[in-house]
Amino acid sequence: MKISKRLSACLKYTEGFNKLADIGTDHALLPINAVTLGYVSSAQAIDNKQGPFVIAYSNVLKYELNSKVEVILGDGIEKIDSDVDVVVISGMGGNLISDILLKDDKQNVKRFILQPNNDSHLVRAAIEAIGFNIVDELVLNDNHKTYDLIIADIGKANYSEIELQFGPINIKEKPYFFIKRIEKEIAKLNKVLPHITTQSRKEEIESRLKLLEEVIK
Ligand SMILES: C[S@@+](CC[C@H](N)C(=O)[O-])C[C@H]1O[C@@H](n2cnc3c(N)ncnc32)[C@H](O)[C@@H]1O
Repeated sequence: MKISKRLSACLKYTEGFNKLADIGTDHALLPINAVTLGYVSSAQAIDNKQGPFVIAYSNVLKYELNSKVEVILGDGIEKIDSDVDVVVISGMGGNLISDILLKDDKQNVKRFILQPNNDSHLVRAAIEAIGFNIVDELVLNDNHKTYDLIIADIGKANYSEIELQFGPINIKEKPYFFIKRIEKEIAKLNKVLPHITTQSRKEEIESRLKLLEEVIK
């Protein structure tokens, strides 16, 4: 079963774990691939809506994986089994991912693989709040869109405002699409700046520009 570059990047980080829970599984593509490739021995495919739940269920049956992939109608991580050690939450807003992370017991999860579509700073703050720390970050481009991928394992962290905003590993490693995204924002701000008449807004944009230049230096 073919999956997107974005899901494939999430999938790679499940390798070597025992049991995966994919939250917001939609078509169950991720758990089907993780089990088929032998990256994990079993999985829970969880979605909180009836439509995706039914599609996930029929896909799991189609690939004859019902003994290895359990499809569950459930909200966030509330129904994960105690032997789940790796959780993927991908393709949602950062606000929703952060709510899911903060809400229920993390049980025995050792790794979260998180791919927010926006507001990544909220996800990083939630990671710190639940006693996890960022061990890898990717900024990837798929279908002309740029996505953050954040990998967090158990461990204490204490991030600065700038690290929360841009990502502690992104700041150090400056991946290609991270730089591209910031350059795009810089170009946009430079274009609007001459048209700004309010002094306070002008200063706001100038200080954002200074920060962005600093981050990619
Ligand atoms: C846009 S899809 C993303 C599907 C897939 N994870 C991906 O990355 O391509 C988001 C899915 O999350 C589900 N969802 C939203 N909130 C959820 C929650 N609190 N718990 C479980 N699933 C949720 C939606 O029903 C939907 O199927």
